[in-house]
Amino acid sequence: MAHDTPVNTTLIGIIGGTGLTELEGLEITGEQVIETPWGMPSAPLVSGKLGGVPVVFLARHGNPHRYPPHQVNYRANIWALKHAGATAIVGVNAVGGIHAAMGPAQIVIPDQLIDYTWGRGHTFFESVVDAELEHVTHIDFTHPYTETLRSALKAAAQDERVSCVDFGVYAATQGPRLETAAEVARMERDGCHLIGMTGMPEAALAAELEIDYACLALVVNWAAGKSDHIITMDEIQAAIDEGMSGVRAMLARFIAS
Ligand code: HPA
Repeated sequence: MAHDTPVNTTLIGIIGGTGLTELEGLEITGEQVIETPWGMPSAPLVSGKLGGVPVVFLARHGNPHRYPPHQVNYRANIWALKHAGATAIVGVNAVGGIHAAMGPAQIVIPDQLIDYTWGRGHTFFESVVDAELEHVTHIDFTHPYTETLRSALKAAAQDERVSCVDFGVYAATQGPRLETAAEVARMERDGCHLIGMTGMPEAALAAELEIDYACLALVVNWAAGKSDHIITMDEIQAAIDEGMSGVRAMLARFIAS
């Protein structure tokens, strides 16, 4: 008797940030240079299989790293992933920690965000020829991250025995400079737990195109004023070296599941 084969309609897109310009273990099947109505994405999209499961990868800052956070073409990136068939995206972000549980090398799956960025191309609802979006939609953004993706990431962390904090308000800042201690204190009063420069407008743009989205954050330093020393690139690199293996393990398990 013939059985209908279930069709897997989910294609995961991974946007790699600082420290993750390539997906280790990815069996590459192709690269696509996609020109979008919003310009060129940061890099060609790399399609492949991880543990036999199709996935599409994009280096947010380019490969090699060339676009600082305020110059990333977030619209082109999200648009290209959509047109490559991605139905869900995990954005990997290096962040500074504010909350006591979010020290260097800690992995966090935030559940909320506050946007402090400005002047970035932050919406698809602008008139651009061929953009295919005719009407402005005021998207609901109450919950900026997709809960099913967050749960799957959390399960992947448990399976891999990777320590992971599963809450957090992500403060998206403009960069590229780091913050003053007073700015961090203000963000803490606002209820923020971690700070990064690339979480927005990425999350909102994914929502505008109805793509599920979650953030996988790796803390790479204590936020300004949260430790007794100033922030150095050496410290950041050390935390990336320590924490990125956990991020990779989580992503591999997440995709496999
Ligand atoms: N602030 C903002 N963005 C960051 C930080 C930080 O301390 N660390 C890594 N990205």
